[in-house]
Amino acid sequence: MEFSDVIAARRTHRQFQPSAIDDAQLQQLLSASLRGPAAGGTTPWRHDAFVGPSEVLAFWRAAWPTRPDDDQPRRLHAAAIVVFGASSETYAKRYEAPPVSGSRGGPSQWPVDFGIVDASFSAMLFQLAAIDAGFGTWFFGFDTDAYAKAFATASDTVMIGAVALGTPEQSNAKRRTTTVADVVRRPVQPT
Ligand SMILES: Cc1cc2nc3c(=O)[nH]c(=O)nc-3n(C[C@H](O)[C@H](O)[C@H](O)COP(=O)(O)O)c2cc1C
Repeated sequence: MEFSDVIAARRTHRQFQPSAIDDAQLQQLLSASLRGPAAGGTTPWRHDAFVGPSEVLAFWRAAWPTRPDDDQPRRLHAAAIVVFGASSETYAKRYEAPPVSGSRGGPSQWPVDFGIVDASFSAMLFQLAAIDAGFGTWFFGFDTDAYAKAFATASDTVMIGAVALGTPEQSNAKRRTTTVADVVRRPVQPT
């Protein structure tokens, strides 16, 4: 696919037909997810992958414990679900070391949580690679406390959400009509 077509095709698919992904293909998508920038040149990512019907079901039950399986059941048809996270510890260690170029200091001085930023870039690359490979994707939030308990997630991991991918059901959801002018300022300093 042309890159512009990948971007144009990106939309949220919450319902899938029974779907599968082979190991090599998933590895390719995960590799793409590691091509994003990361604060301090670290390798902060801590992602979890659930592949195939039983793992996908286990994810849903742990990540959304109050939701019955038959609520929106076509979410269960995802070929795989990847939880995107980053390790806070990684940054703490990196910023204790000799100065990082352009850095204003350690995590306590950051304007935003870099783990959230880096994991978000990673999730976006994963989605674009998945769309390029012909899948539909869905980024969503979930109950990270219940999930962490169920899957013994390291306590320093910041989980930003998950991406489900699969063969999408047809969707006739309306696309957003936001324009660049709606959201982009061209600020000028007051004189
Ligand atoms: C941080 C974040 C959290 C989201 N959480 C959910 C969610 O919990 N459930 C859901 O169905 N969609 C979720 N979405 C998907 C958005 O609803 C979706 O991106 C938005 O409606 C725009 O639609 P589009 O992705 O098709 O352009 C989330 C998206 C983001 C970026």
